[in-house]
Amino acid sequence: MKTTFAALLAPCVLVSSLFAGLSAAAQAQTMNDAVYQGLGAKSGISKIVADFLPIILADQRINAAFKDTDMERLGAMLAEQFCELSGGPCKYSGKEMKEAHQDMKVTNAQFFALAEDLQIAMEKNNIPSSVQNKLVAKLAPMQRPIVTK
Ligand code: HEM
Repeated sequence: MKTTFAALLAPCVLVSSLFAGLSAAAQAQTMNDAVYQGLGAKSGISKIVADFLPIILADQRINAAFKDTDMERLGAMLAEQFCELSGGPCKYSGKEMKEAHQDMKVTNAQFFALAEDLQIAMEKNNIPSSVQNKLVAKLAPMQRPIVTK
């Protein structure tokens, strides 16, 4: 059988493009991970959420909404959500944002108040403002399903 140059080359092309693909994927993983790492990974996110909850409860602009809320569950769900959103190795297991906030009549002002409280919690944990802004930007698309008033 005659072996053509192309036939010899084909597996090399396949293998090298596979490597290129893998290293691009690895690079994307590292890049997508940056906000998660900037937040201090899982333990950093837990600390931020632990500071965030009492700030929410002390904030008169929004605390009435949380009077019957299981704050332990809320904390666990927020930690999962922030981990996933920031590119960490988590899968959010809570309710869809629309479902979780329906009938609450959340206003834009309340939405921004909560985002501000999150920034205070991140500031308290010395998270660089570039990282803070990136997490807040990831929450922005949730305004639509959450704000219903
Ligand atoms: C960026 C904005 C917000 C995010 C990312 C967010 C995220 C979440 C998450 C992850 C949950 C847990 C859902 C579950 O239990 O499965 C939740 C529940 C809740 N959220 Fe929000 N939320 C936001 C804004 C707000 C605002 C502005 C209010 C009211 C002022 C609010 C009030 C509540 C309440 C009361 C619950 C508990 C509902 C229940 O007990 O079932 N949220 N939120």
